[in-house]
Amino acid sequence: MKKTIIALSVISALGIHLQGCGAQAESSGGGLGKTAAQTSVATASAEDTLADQKAQALLAKMTLDEKIQLVHGAGIGTSPLGGGGFIPGIARLGIPDLNMADSATGVNAGLKGATEFPSPLAVAASWNGALANELGATIAKELRATGFAISLGSGGANLAREPRYGRTWEYFGEDPVLAGTFMTQRTLGTQAQKVIATAKHFIGNEQETNRFASNSVIPERALRELYLLPFEMTVKDAQPGNVMCAYNLVNGLKACESKELLTDILKTQWGFKGTVQADWIFALTDTVRGANAGLDEEEPGSQDDYQSNYGLPTSNFNQKLKAAVQNGSVSAARLDDMVFRKLRTLYRYGIMDTPPVAGGTIDRAGGQAMAQKVASEAMVLLKNAAPAGTSSPALPIAKTIRSIVVIGGHADVGVMHGGGSASIAPQDGNPVACLQPGTAFDPAGVFSKCAPYFKSSPLAAIRAKAPNASVTYFDGSNASAAAAAAASADVAIVFATQFASENMDLATLDLPNNAADPANQAYDQNALIAAVTAKNKRTVVVLESATAVTMPWLAGTSAVLEAWYPGIRGGQAIADVLFGDVNPSGKLPITFPQKVQDLPQPLISQTDTTVNYAEGLNMGYRWFDSKAIAPLFPFGHGLSYTSFSYSGLIASKLANGDVSVRVTLKNDGVRAGAEVAQVYATLPSAAGEPPKRLVGWQKVLLQPGESRQLSITISSARFAIWNTAQRASQVPAGSYGVQVGGSSRAPAMLSTSLSL
Ligand code: BGC
Repeated sequence: MKKTIIALSVISALGIHLQGCGAQAESSGGGLGKTAAQTSVATASAEDTLADQKAQALLAKMTLDEKIQLVHGAGIGTSPLGGGGFIPGIARLGIPDLNMADSATGVNAGLKGATEFPSPLAVAASWNGALANELGATIAKELRATGFAISLGSGGANLAREPRYGRTWEYFGEDPVLAGTFMTQRTLGTQAQKVIATAKHFIGNEQETNRFASNSVIPERALRELYLLPFEMTVKDAQPGNVMCAYNLVNGLKACESKELLTDILKTQWGFKGTVQADWIFALTDTVRGANAGLDEEEPGSQDDYQSNYGLPTSNFNQKLKAAVQNGSVSAARLDDMVFRKLRTLYRYGIMDTPPVAGGTIDRAGGQAMAQKVASEAMVLLKNAAPAGTSSPALPIAKTIRSIVVIGGHADVGVMHGGGSASIAPQDGNPVACLQPGTAFDPAGVFSKCAPYFKSSPLAAIRAKAPNASVTYFDGSNASAAAAAAASADVAIVFATQFASENMDLATLDLPNNAADPANQAYDQNALIAAVTAKNKRTVVVLESATAVTMPWLAGTSAVLEAWYPGIRGGQAIADVLFGDVNPSGKLPITFPQKVQDLPQPLISQTDTTVNYAEGLNMGYRWFDSKAIAPLFPFGHGLSYTSFSYSGLIASKLANGDVSVRVTLKNDGVRAGAEVAQVYATLPSAAGEPPKRLVGWQKVLLQPGESRQLSITISSARFAIWNTAQRASQVPAGSYGVQVGGSSRAPAMLSTSLSL
């Protein structure tokens, strides 16, 4: 089948991370100062013109058959390099073979020695856009070294409206501006290395259940203000070479066959110059409708449109497209436009001039260092209380501690990862045997339900931190034995995991037990944690999760650390945070609800293919705010080993309509640490918006006692609403509230107002 799945001081550690991400006095509202990569797009017009001219000249030399060859893939499993897609080159014209690989968390093309990176959701939890840029560049180098110049997973931005969505971990969370900033930066980092980035899935793919047939019914205003916004930001600021249209229907039409979405919005209104590529197999159902809507490339395609491969639907953009062009139902000009877009992208991002060559060297040490850096900055400390009868918080753990019990989650051998096309096979073997091997999630057998684990043992890293302590490990299958050992230990650390994958949704947000996930869980994780917390008041829970989880045991724990899917250096990064060698600085990119009943959609229907986005604009934290529901942990939440205070908030309108926010941030503690100062806006009540929206942020490293005035410039676009009568974006006139704090519900949030 197509897939190949299958202590430094705090100061120096954080100091490296924060270069260029907001530690400077001035920053854009997206938490990132201007980088070289950003500048290259802004000043790209000469390169754009040159690419256009070269593409036009080459197009003029092409035959009809050659044009057809470039607008569809050669079929499932045809990439000689093991990637997810392949378009053979045309030697006569100097067009190289085009091998494509998924790469959300690393090069997904078999065992090539590529680095296994943390999940994109973890990356978003860093709130450091520069990190996404750097990560994009690192993965792009590994793609090139393995022969790929087209990345299929350089940035997905379907929003986490439904946290049970099995692909939540592949994206950048629930806020459109946070997601748009991260997809933009990952795209810029990728394309600066001469690898084409793909922004996906356009649009409305916010659940996996019935994904080939479901119809996302999205009100126009929510579509524009929420779901399209990250794509709009990425297209305008980073010009990705590819946009992948989604499997599902949007308001009654297949996303890949919607002229309004592909031509009117994406290409005409936003100025997208690249290729619209269909998601694999089921996204395109009608040759003429797709081509005339603005679809430019069918994947995975086939050499023969009339013969099904692997029992899947026949393809549409080979002989059928040729016939349609010959009989005039698709114009020759439309076909030329498809090919032109492909060629100009290949020229623009250096693939024509410097095609990738397989067999290069992957910088494994460099990749792992990058993976650790991302994991360290992504960890979110959700809770850190003083155990009963003590006065200081459970974390960080002193290295002089005498006894530690580590329990569960296969912490003795590795860390969990997600499944599906965004995954990457553990490059040096999976240390955890699947409890139900050989079965798959979907009838086509594409995706394994067995979690990949990477060999990065938290237990080993914990032992190294406290060499004089007695550190014992229990695998969690015997809760009473683990709890009994915990009773006499100085600290108990319980690891809990939650597997999710493409092509499945989670039934609940409860930590899975052996009934919910028999392939990966041997016992009831919630019961284990409850048993341990009953015996040891200093219990720390470490989560390796795809998305939010519920925590019925929360009150009994001292500390909870969300490590997400932390990648090949995850064990080390977790231990660094637990022992204080890294001061945690991540913030939640999604809301953690107390219970699934608090979500807008009570359950994901298995039978009703209509997915009604009835909550409209009230998505994610906007839902919890508008309904006054207390979340378990709010969007933007994340603790540090130091504490910060905010003062002196001033918001003012600049001459160009942008807004300047100034606030003084002080590190009140005795450790260096980084804080994400978040700026939320409340629109004038007549605008009919949810209570607040994120409009900007800045992540800043401060030394103990240091205070700094931050200056965050927020584009006027961040205050806009979509006017459905005028079908245009506008900033409503009136009084705006501006709130600044360390989370969307920070108790000491500062607020002011200004008129726009
Ligand atoms: C996924 C895409 C992926 C493609 C190629 C599809 O099933 O939805 O995200 O890029 O497969 O592997």
